[in-house]
Amino acid sequence: MKLVIKKDYDEMSKLAAETIKGIVNNKPTAILGLATGSTPIGVYKELIKMNKSNDIDFSKVTTVNLDEYIGLGENDPQSYRYFMNKNLFEYININKSNTFVPNGLAENIEQEAKNYDNKIDELDGIDVQILGIGSNGHIAFNEPSDVLIAGTHLTGLTESTIEANSRFFDSASEVPKSALTMGLGQIMKSRKILLLAQGENKAEVVKELLSGKITTKNPSTMLQMHKDVTIIIDEEIGKLIK
Ligand code: GLP
Repeated sequence: MKLVIKKDYDEMSKLAAETIKGIVNNKPTAILGLATGSTPIGVYKELIKMNKSNDIDFSKVTTVNLDEYIGLGENDPQSYRYFMNKNLFEYININKSNTFVPNGLAENIEQEAKNYDNKIDELDGIDVQILGIGSNGHIAFNEPSDVLIAGTHLTGLTESTIEANSRFFDSASEVPKSALTMGLGQIMKSRKILLLAQGENKAEVVKELLSGKITTKNPSTMLQMHKDVTIIIDEEIGKLIK
């Protein structure tokens, strides 16, 4: 695992965006694994700028997102599909039919989960997966638990995640209690992983992620078993984990 400490959020975002640019320029049909949350917004802003200046072409790129809330559809401003449309897809030259986000409104969620994994396999896997991290160590919506699930699956959200994500909703009671998420096994199949973390509330879990120990109580620690992971953090976390 490689650790890169950048001065601030902008520098972290630029590094991740440059890495994605390099991958797409090398392979125009690249499969990008994308994430939601506050952390990747800066990366998406950089990618939009690069696309406007013709430094990256998304016309043949495919994207797959990590997760979606159950019960929220694409017109719901809190859904992750809406987030992706508004923070990236509407501003780049990507073919919308090549962007995949799990469907939180699917009638048969189990089938949707299977279809999602099959889709990723059909695409021959993810070239680069962008990840944030929850302050409890969750990756996508793989929450701390005794057992982690490999494939895409339905999951309940922990109280701490509902609380953390309530900042995007009018109140905590409006946060969906469950989500459809890619599993750790699927994420680990990505050829390359970039995990970004910023802010002191992530310091403890990042420290565990770098500890050499693996525990399902901090799902991010599984990433230590992957052969090409770069952890990009800011100086604030850098100082706290020394
Ligand atoms: C959500 C998402 C994760 C994300 C995490 C951290 O719960 N499902 O994919 O990494 O929150 O979000 P933030 O970047 O806003 O701290």
